[in-house]
Amino acid sequence: MTDVQGRTAFITGGGNGIGLGIAKALARAGVPLALNDIDGEALDHARAQLGSIVPVEVFRFDVRDRDAYAAAAAAAEERLGPVSLLFNNAGVASAFPADRLTYALWDWSIGTNLGGVINGIRTFLPRMLERGEGGHIVNTASGAGLAATGSGVIYCTAKFGVVGLSESMGPELAPSGVGVSLLCPGPVATGTIERSADAAPIAGLRLSPEEWRHHAERSAAMAAVLREAISADAVGELVLKAVREDQFYIHTDRVMEARIAARTEALLEAMPMQEVAA
Ligand SMILES: NC(=O)c1ccc[n+]([C@@H]2O[C@H](COP(=O)([O-])OP(=O)(O)OC[C@H]3O[C@@H](n4cnc5c(N)ncnc54)[C@H](O)[C@@H]3O)[C@@H](O)[C@H]2O)c1
Repeated sequence: MTDVQGRTAFITGGGNGIGLGIAKALARAGVPLALNDIDGEALDHARAQLGSIVPVEVFRFDVRDRDAYAAAAAAAEERLGPVSLLFNNAGVASAFPADRLTYALWDWSIGTNLGGVINGIRTFLPRMLERGEGGHIVNTASGAGLAATGSGVIYCTAKFGVVGLSESMGPELAPSGVGVSLLCPGPVATGTIERSADAAPIAGLRLSPEEWRHHAERSAAMAAVLREAISADAVGELVLKAVREDQFYIHTDRVMEARIAARTEALLEAMPMQEVAA
């Protein structure tokens, strides 16, 4: 069990969506907040909303920028005290055909969705362990990190990475008192589709008009699904409960159940019936 009282939290992508939902839940629990985002307006809005409940500091930088991350971490700890609750949550969505993906798209999505998590851990974990006061790290993956979905090759690649990182790190850190949770949301009502479309580096991406039309239709359909989904505030409460109860996997629904079962079955079925002779 991780008692959040007296701890300080750092949340990446904390200006909107799930990150903001987590921030609200933590604010209600009295946890001082360091919020990161690339969206300065959203950060200002979050501070205005939550600053009357708990101390809130905002840090506008890109989680891919390691120097900026280190500087923000130092400033956050100076102003709010040691960070022992870390939420590696910033992420972007994009789904284009595998044969058209540019290096710019690969670097942007892997750098944000997986690299951002790595940078958060590299920045804060040594400090947490050195202090020896325990803490908790929540990494946001996705159902798309547990079995392949139509969310795009890069997105699935990055989220599978976050799952592997978290599953290997959890047991390793357990003796230190730093808990790890893996958030694997299904659809959540956020503006990620629209925000990610605005941010995606699509210069150099060659799609035919027909393919662009198809992409726009798929994005609109996905955005419509998200609008009907669980709220980011409700996910924030689920995450807080998981931190308190040291729960590793955090699901928001059972949407991935059949895909996970099929993947597991296929993996097991592909194994030889007996040891293959050397
Ligand atoms: N919404 C869903 O249905 C859903 C489902 C599964 C997983 N997720 C994951 O949840 C996390 C949060 O997504 P969300 O739906 O709340 O999206 P969102 O767009 O509402 O919020 C993400 C925030 O991250 C910020 N951000 C993006 N790139 C950044 C960067 N390089 N550095 C710093 N901040 C950056 C954005 O400005 C935004 O404020 C992501 O990791 C996403 O992959 C979301």
